[in-house]
Formats: sequence, C-alpha cells, structure tokens
Amino acid sequence: LEEIDDETLKGFLQLIHRKAGITIAPSRKAMLQGRLRSRMRPLGLSGFHDYLRYLDEHPEEMQAFLDVITTNETYFYRTPRIWEHIEKKVLPDWVARKEGSIFTAWSAAASSGEEASTLAVILQSFKEKNPTFQYRVIGTDLSTQILAQAEKGLYSGRSIESFRKAQPELFRKYMVEKEPGSFGVAPEIRARIEYRHHNLMQKLKVTAPFDLVLIRNVLIYFDAKEQQTILNHVSQVIKPSGVVIIGESESLNHLQTRFVYQQPLVYALGSSDNAKQEAA
Ligand SMILES: C[S@@+](CC[C@H](N)C(=O)[O-])C[C@H]1O[C@@H](n2cnc3c(N)ncnc32)[C@H](O)[C@@H]1O
Repeated sequence: LEEIDDETLKGFLQLIHRKAGITIAPSRKAMLQGRLRSRMRPLGLSGFHDYLRYLDEHPEEMQAFLDVITTNETYFYRTPRIWEHIEKKVLPDWVARKEGSIFTAWSAAASSGEEASTLAVILQSFKEKNPTFQYRVIGTDLSTQILAQAEKGLYSGRSIESFRKAQPELFRKYMVEKEPGSFGVAPEIRARIEYRHHNLMQKLKVTAPFDLVLIRNVLIYFDAKEQQTILNHVSQVIKPSGVVIIGESESLNHLQTRFVYQQPLVYALGSSDNAKQEAA
C-alpha cells in the first residue's frame, strides 16, 4: 500500500483544519491514512494525492471526507458522575430558581446521539417526579453520517452496556427494545430530542439560550485558539445561569473564556457582575 508523502499529508491536515477547525498531529499519520483509504476505495482512487485533488475538484465530496476524519466514539451514561450532578444539583437548582418554562439543553458534539439520549432519559425521569417540568434537547454534530444514525436511534452492545448495568431501573423504564438486542429511547422522550447539522467553529442559531450545554470529548481535537472560539460561541447561546459540562480528559482552566470552574468538568458563566458580587 502506498504511504502518504509529507507534502500531501500537510495538504490534508490544512484542509481538515480549515473545514473542521480540528488539529491532527502529523504523528497520527497511520490513523489518518486508514480513514482516507476507506473513502478512496469506493471512489476508485489509489493515491492520496489523487484524493486531495479530487476533494478540490468535487466540493460535494467534502461532507463524506469530514465524516471519515471525525472520531465518533460515544456511549450511554459516559462518565456517571456528571449525570448524577445533573440529576442531583443542576435540575433541583433550576427548579428552585423558578427559571420557568422549558429546560433546554444542547449536546454540542452529539455523535450518534447517546449523550443527548442519556440526558433526555434523566430529564424524563426528573419530569415524572416534578410534573410541571418540561424539557427539550438539541444534539448537533459536524458529521451528517453519524447524525443519520442518531436520527435512527437504535442502540446495542457496548453503546448501552454500561448504562444498563449502572442504571437498570432507568434502562428498563425508558429504553424500548425495537429490534432483538437493539434499544431506543421511549417515543415520548425521543419526541423531545432534535438533531441538527452544525460546525462548532460557527455560532449556533437558536431561538432561546440554553440552560445546559454538554460539550464533551470534542475539545481534545482542537488547539487552544479554536477551543476558545468554540467556547466563545457557547457563551453566546447559554443563559447567565447556564451550566457547561466538558469531557473527562478536558479542562478550560488554561483557556481565556467567560466560564468559571465550579467543580471537576463543570463550569458556569462568570459575568463581571458575579465577579463584583463575589468581591463585595
Ligand atoms: C468522540 S465524539 C463525542 C461524543 C459525545 N459528546 C461523548 O462525549 O460521548 C466527538 C464528536 O465531535 C464531532 N465533531 C468534531 N469536530 C466537530 C466540529 N468542528 N463541529 C461539530 N462537531 C464536531 C465528531 O463528528 C464526533 O461525533
């Protein structure tokens, strides 16, 4: 098999950075080659340079290219302690503040929908104890291919395993077996989730700001500059009282953002007013 040459590698890395904001280290060449080949094969292209030129000449190939270069690894109930935090702290606080109307949340790198679905299950369970509570979840991703899977909402194997073990009651109550071994969230929950295509390098168009933003296991793909751009966009679509939750291997502490640390993985918008109040 042909190896990618340095010049072509550079071309791909620049293209990925320009289109997705993602920075891939040249050391991840083997991974990149494998992913590119999976797209070159059906196109009948054998040289990497041919594929790079093909992308230039066929703008309609760009989405399929972005679909293969993104890493979509995800599963239900990933990082249990953040779900406990949402259930025990974020939601009761929201109700106590009489924030009113509808609790809205954004799963900002939704992948195949496991994160948005886990959240919606937890919100539904909270709703049953608090009948006036209402919620909506929006899930967005750059990859249209993975969003098509999210729309389908059929989950099996590793995707649901740890959720089923950790929360057997929630699982039994809110997950429906749609095909042997394949589960989806109950229809009344699914009806409250909406999926949309979105590039985090742009600002999301919303009608109302969010109460909660999950932006997990995606910041790792960006350099500090792009992370700051993304978080700046997030800060423009979140309520002053909103909460941001990031992934286990991520931190905002080294970045210049409007978010202040609350506890591991959890951040809140720190307005200058808050800062003044705290100082007083
Ligand atoms: C590893 S998954 C994380 C899924 C989920 N948040 C979780 O923590 O389990 C990362 C997702 O980010 C998406 N992504 C990467 N770059 C993006 C961008 N520029 N805009 C929007 N989504 C992006 C990928 O397509 C992928 O589905």
